[in-house]
Amino acid sequence: MRKILVTGAQGQIGSELVPALRQRHGAEAVVATFHRKRPESDEGLVEHLDSTDTRQLGDLLDRHGIGTIYHLAAMLSATGEADPQAAWDVNMGSLYAVLEAARARDCALFFPSSIGAFGPGTPLDDTPQDTLQRPNTIYGVSKVSGELLCDYYAHRFGLDARGLRYPGLISYVTPPGGGTTDYAVEIFYHALRDGRYTCFLAADTRLDMMYMPDATRAAIALMEADPATLTHRNAFNVTAMNVTPAELADAIRVHIPNFTIAYDVDPVRQAIAESWPNSMDDSEARAQWGWAPKYDLAGMVADMLEKLGG
Ligand code: SER
Repeated sequence: MRKILVTGAQGQIGSELVPALRQRHGAEAVVATFHRKRPESDEGLVEHLDSTDTRQLGDLLDRHGIGTIYHLAAMLSATGEADPQAAWDVNMGSLYAVLEAARARDCALFFPSSIGAFGPGTPLDDTPQDTLQRPNTIYGVSKVSGELLCDYYAHRFGLDARGLRYPGLISYVTPPGGGTTDYAVEIFYHALRDGRYTCFLAADTRLDMMYMPDATRAAIALMEADPATLTHRNAFNVTAMNVTPAELADAIRVHIPNFTIAYDVDPVRQAIAESWPNSMDDSEARAQWGWAPKYDLAGMVADMLEKLGG
């Protein structure tokens, strides 16, 4: 089997996807790449990579005999708004380099898109698979451009590019960095440590969410799906739950009865959240490749608190 390369391997998704892939295919089948800081301990193959560097990327793909790339390196929505030029350079520069390197070597590619690819004008309830996408963040612009570019490479060059539109991802291994949905991770650390949390989104801000074990399972399942069953290739809506900060706090109070939540709304992230779906329709993912989440709100909260609480 040709090996798998993961960019952004130390990020929120990568730090759990890499072990899942190694468990499935063997430690030596997966090359985890890092950009800034070499991981202190890593059992498998680890390489430095600036994923905007086409030459370095090509060398790595050739040296390890890579057949599949999970391209996870990206800047998130709130960080992106603080430095839009850098967000474009990182998100699109790296995707273009990865697409070109993959095209030249006939690699399969996984590209994570996001609820951020939607925006004002998109139907926010039961957001359809195919609908209006006019995001107004640089993150969203890079994601919708990425979806289009991956589809273009698939149609124009026959590249096996596939992808998901992830909702907010909740996890306990590596915190997200600079996203609008980060509150749904922070809240657990504060609940366990302080018994209270001040949320930067308003109490009734509804967003789709997913627990990381479901998110990594979805990526692997899509990449292993029979292409004959896929009508879409990129940007499948996937979700597991939709929740407001107040509802998440209620679910935490089932386990920590004295937990309290307060609100100090950040207008930038609030505006971003309000432009994103309240609930996505993921029926195409369910029909085309059998997507089904394992964790609902109660199941996710119980597992998060158990894992973080030790
Ligand atoms: N979690 C991401 C963010 O908030 C959305 O994909 O930016």
